[in-house]
Parts: sequence; structure tokens; C-alpha cells
Amino acid sequence: MATIPASIHIDPVRIIGQVDPRIYSGFTEHMGRCIYGGLYDPNNKHGLSDPKTGFRLDVLDVLKELNIPLVRYPGGNFVSSYRWQDGVGPRELRPRRPELAWLSEESNQFGTGTHPFGCIVDCPFLSPLRILGTEPCICLNMGTGTLEDALAWVEYCNGSANTYYANLRRTNGHDAPYGVKYWSLGNEVWGPWQIGQMEAQDYANNAYQWAKALRLLDPNIQLVSCGETGYTDWDRVILRKLAPVVDFHSVHSMSCRGCVPHYGPSTAAAAEKALDITRSLIDLSKIESGLNKALTVCFDEWNVWDPVRAPGDKGAEEHYDLSDALAVASWLNVFVRQADIVKIACIAQSVNVISPIITSPEGLFRQTTFYPLKLFSTFMRGASLDIHVQSPSYQGPTVPPFIQHLTLHTPDSARLTKFVDVSAVLACTTPPEIRVAIVNRSENNAFSAHFAFGPNAEVTSSVKVYEVWSADLKDRNGFGKDEEKIKAVEKEEKWDGKQGYLLKSHSFQSEFLF
Ligand code: AHR
Repeated sequence: MATIPASIHIDPVRIIGQVDPRIYSGFTEHMGRCIYGGLYDPNNKHGLSDPKTGFRLDVLDVLKELNIPLVRYPGGNFVSSYRWQDGVGPRELRPRRPELAWLSEESNQFGTGTHPFGCIVDCPFLSPLRILGTEPCICLNMGTGTLEDALAWVEYCNGSANTYYANLRRTNGHDAPYGVKYWSLGNEVWGPWQIGQMEAQDYANNAYQWAKALRLLDPNIQLVSCGETGYTDWDRVILRKLAPVVDFHSVHSMSCRGCVPHYGPSTAAAAEKALDITRSLIDLSKIESGLNKALTVCFDEWNVWDPVRAPGDKGAEEHYDLSDALAVASWLNVFVRQADIVKIACIAQSVNVISPIITSPEGLFRQTTFYPLKLFSTFMRGASLDIHVQSPSYQGPTVPPFIQHLTLHTPDSARLTKFVDVSAVLACTTPPEIRVAIVNRSENNAFSAHFAFGPNAEVTSSVKVYEVWSADLKDRNGFGKDEEKIKAVEKEEKWDGKQGYLLKSHSFQSEFLF
């Protein structure tokens, strides 16, 4: 198959914004085997868990490779009927409860609470995160939960005075406050599946009162409003009311495996357009309220998920293939390109449930999607650079309906659906390095990419490349011999920047150009 010409213009002077490391964040929900049997497995018979804490040490080691700065917890849908008080104090006294989001039972053995015997590392939720150097972001229950419960949770985690919940934390063995900075005001409150679903204005009014009270209790916390997809009327109404009292607006969106070939220009492209709209809605809300403050996007659920193939109430264990890995790389390209507005993004989720790693009692394997995530989190940090790409654009059924309306009529819909999808950063190394992440989203065509750079950049005679590729888009990893069927392959390639650079069909490459 002949290669098709493409061009990639990168000017190191045109900086979009700093890539916030928090765009490489994770999410652990009480759902399926994410926590129980994933992160936390005290009865593991193969010696994989820490005997004191019950944490799966192999899981923590692999999560460390992803260098995750922040983890959202405890849901998701789960949180909308969660009583955090059940998860603290002596384990043998913790109640089992019906779990209504995924129709299971919650043992409450894992929570914000403490180990009864006072180990050093004894907070089941907060400790593994702190072991990983990760900040927690707690989502509050705005379904069955009250403002009083929410205030009590913040006091339990952050209180330093001689007050009831701060003292309860001390009784449970933690003198020092946990210092949880990020708190979300509910999860997907707009959704019919949510316990406590609300109309936009009702949620906005309610969340406004919560925000005021929570900030009175702890002025150092940062709050996240519950947005929808970033471009809906819900987002507009919520931002208009909550802009003065929150720091982030949350957005959720998933590439649906069954709906479209996800390596193609699918939901990530629609999310990018949605983010353009969210940016404007945020601006509008700030203008209307006369606000001069930082208010950015917390994209706290994104990934590939087909709930028909991997239903939530069955644990949502998607087994990802190469095409999913390419979709994940496209998502991450979006977050780097939108660095000025997206400051937090959490892949949903981090262990077993629609996750880059799958565990069994005997071990774990890294899914295909693990590799783009690791490459981005390791290398794509620094200043996001403006780029211009010329390549054929995709037009057809895999363009999601939301941007289909725009296709052919606006220039930027073509920008969103290019086969060659690129982001670039200027890394703070000495000397500074330009690093580029490129997805070739064409199933069958290779491209020969010509690069053009600004005047101060010089290509060295070779480039370091990390490639995620296989001849078959359906290839995936598994336990045993297939553990590393798909992985990131490191290469050093001779190239002086003058001739075309080969982009294999359906490939992801992360490379260092200077
Ligand atoms: O990540 C799985 C679920 O997807 C979350 O619980 C919910 O918030 C979203 O709909």
C-alpha cells in the first residue's frame, strides 16, 4: 500500500499552555473488582498482598509506573448511595449494605477509615494513594447524602480542631489530618441512572449552598461542579450559577467500543469540540458574574467502554485491543492540545474495571491501553505547542453525531477528524526537547509525514521513538504468553528532519525530535 503525504508544522514559540500533570490522573470506584480483588485483596493466597494493609503490592508497583498524580474516589455512580461513615472504625463493626448503583453488596472493609490495630500504613483508601505519591479527589454523595454528611466527611479528613469528626479520626488512629484538597459536588447528577437525579437548576441551587458551607469549614479545599459532556444546557446552567464558588467544572465522555471503530476519529474528536464549547461557557459565566479567577475543566471520566459488552453490574472488565490503545492515545492528544483549559483528567478507571491493568489472584497483565498512558504520563509534560497538521480527513459513519452536524460546513470539523492526530510539547529538559505524540488513525494507509519547525529548532540526526503497533488491530494482551503482545517498543531512528517520516497504518508513536 502506497504512503500518502502528510505534513506536521510545529512552532516551539506558539505555546498553548502548560500541560498539567493532573491530566494523567486515575479513578478507583467501589465497582466490580476495582477495589476488592484489585487494589485491595487482604486474603490473597499467593503472597501478593501486604499482610498488614491488604493492598496488592504488584498492583501498586504497576500503578507507580503510570506516575498518577491524582485519583478520584469512591465513585462514580457508587457514591450516590454511599455512607462514608460505614467505612471507618473497627472493621468487624462495619455494616454490609445493599449497593444500589451496580446492584451488589458493599462490605465497607475498604473506606476512608482505619485499621483497628493501628498499623503505620492503615488508611485503606488514603494510604495506597499516598504511597503512590497521589492526591485523592473525593466525590461527595449528592444522591442519598446530606450536606451534613458532606461536612462531616470534610471535617473527618481535614479537621484539626477539637471537634467531633476530627476527634473520631484521632480515635481511629490518625492524629494528623489527611488534607484532602479536591472535593467533587456529586456525580452525573443529570443522569436517569443516578440515585438522586436532579433538574439542572435544582442541582445548581443545591450545590451552591453545599459549596458555600464546605468552604466555610475548610477554605483551602478546591471544588468541582458536576458537569455533563461540556456542551449541553446542563453545563450552561450549572456554570452560570456555580462559577463563583467552584474551581473546576467536571466533564465525562467515553468512546463506545460497540458504536464506532474507536481507532477512528470517534468520541475523542467530539470531546475536543465539546471542550471548545466548555471553554466558551466558562468564559461566558465569568463575564456574567464579573469573575476574575481560574476556572478550568476536570475531565474526571474518559476512556473506551462498551457497556453492552462489559456491563457495569458484571464488573465492566473490558479486554482492550490495539484499536482501543489508539483511541486512548487520541484522547490524550486532545488533553495535551487543550492544555489551557483541561487541568485534571481521570481515566475511568484504574484497576480491572475498564482499566489499563487486569488482575487475577495470581498476578496481573498490562492491557494495550496501558502503554499510551504510560508514554504520555512519562514524556508528554511541559508546554503544549500549537501545531498544524495536513492529512486527509475522515468522513463517514464513525464521526459521532454531535460533530456530524458540523462536518463539511466548518473548517474545524475537518481539523477534528484528520487521520493523522498529533500533539506536541516542549519539555523542560536541558536543552529543551520537542516531543511529539502521533496517532495514525487510518486502518489501511501509511503516511509519509513532512515536518516543518520554527526557526530556532534543529532536528538531531536521530530520533528516539516509542511505537505501539501490531499488524492486527484486534491484537490484545492477556495472561501468560500474550502478556506483552502489544507494548511500547523503543527505537533509535536515523532521521535529519528533511525527508518524510513513515507513519505506519493504525499506529501510535511518541518521539523525541530535538
Ligand atoms: O466508570 C463507570 C461509571 O461510568 C461511573 O460510575 C459513572 O460515573 C459513569 O457513568
